[in-house]
Amino acid sequence: MKENEKELIDLDEEGNIKGEKEEKKASKSNNTFKILATVIIIAIIICAIIFTLKQYKRTNRIELIIANDYDEMSEKAANIIAELIKNNPNAILGLATGSTPIGTYIELIKKFNNKEISFKNVKTFNLDEYIGLDQFHPQSYYYYMYDHLFKHIDINLNNTHIPKGEGVTETNIKEYEDLLNKNKINLQILGVGRNGHIGFNEPGTDFGLGVHDVMLHNNTIMDNARFFENDLNKVPKKAITMGIRNILDAETIILMANGTNKADAIKNVMENKVDVNIPVTALNIHKGKVYIIVDKKAASKL
Ligand code: F6R
Repeated sequence: MKENEKELIDLDEEGNIKGEKEEKKASKSNNTFKILATVIIIAIIICAIIFTLKQYKRTNRIELIIANDYDEMSEKAANIIAELIKNNPNAILGLATGSTPIGTYIELIKKFNNKEISFKNVKTFNLDEYIGLDQFHPQSYYYYMYDHLFKHIDINLNNTHIPKGEGVTETNIKEYEDLLNKNKINLQILGVGRNGHIGFNEPGTDFGLGVHDVMLHNNTIMDNARFFENDLNKVPKKAITMGIRNILDAETIILMANGTNKADAIKNVMENKVDVNIPVTALNIHKGKVYIIVDKKAASKL
């Protein structure tokens, strides 16, 4: 053996060929790395499959419709409601007040006038009412419904239900809860407050609550002051409302939102959050179909 070849197979103290041990070590750690990388890749693939399946299930239930503006949003919501009434003339609707659904009510009145739909056998249940305003106060939700919808259509007023804001609150709560338990709402219309409230379920409300009374939050009182000559003292501080449990009992829900001040609330729902401090995120645990119909401004944070 030549001198330089002898150098190459030089043995170490344990009798191993020098360098072979390091090679073995290197190939061992190489294998460990490969196994680790494979495990990580498989884990990522599994996560991606789970995520895709979840999204698929979710988008199947929650349908986001982005309209160009308020009018288009209102039309789209009214079309869904009209279809339901055509298919089921005895439909039970859950109704909301506020500025959001006014356009939808206008569209429904048009459809009624065009003889496309009749409300003769339709029943309605409103989400909420202020405590302390009599029915005919121009800002009571009873008056709102009469003025914006009921007086324009052929609905039987005996089939319209709104929580009572006058009298003994406990009795009114029980009566409304009993009524809701006997009448399953086919389609619930919702607006959303900029703090994420639905009905008068303010942030922090237990999702399991039924009909109950509430103290309104300051920003809700401020938002509503525009309907009370901008006088905070005139805005009622308490209300009676369907709870989130009652809302989630509806077969189908339409949530409408327009304007940039609703963009955060919509973002929170679409991010699939379920957070008791953002009541509207309860829609993510609804078992039926949810339409979220928004204008471009309310969709601006998506
Ligand atoms: C009204 C209601 C409220 C409103 C919400 C948004 O019956 O339940 O939750 O939907 O305060 O109000 P607007 O539509 O006026 O922005």
